Amino acid sequence: MKKLVVELCMGSSCFARGNSQTLVALESYLQDSGYADCVDLVGHLCMGDCSKGPNIRIADTTYQGLVAEEVLQLVVDALAERKDL
Ligand code: FES
Repeated sequence: MKKLVVELCMGSSCFARGNSQTLVALESYLQDSGYADCVDLVGHLCMGDCSKGPNIRIADTTYQGLVAEEVLQLVVDALAERKDL
């Protein structure tokens, strides 16, 4: 089973712009939903595009400027699409 890789930029700009809340929201969701073993949640150094952050990547697709609720929805949708999880 290949895990869904969710990468959060933990550089200071993205962290301050919202990825700190996104990290808390994702960790909480993964624990409560039982999907913790299906997702690799990875912290990243600065992804090099701070002005458009906060930056995240889900399965190699980069998203910019999203708040925690929007990221959570993308992860929920990505998990729902995965037939192998
Ligand atoms: S801190 Fe996230 S892109 Fe620079």
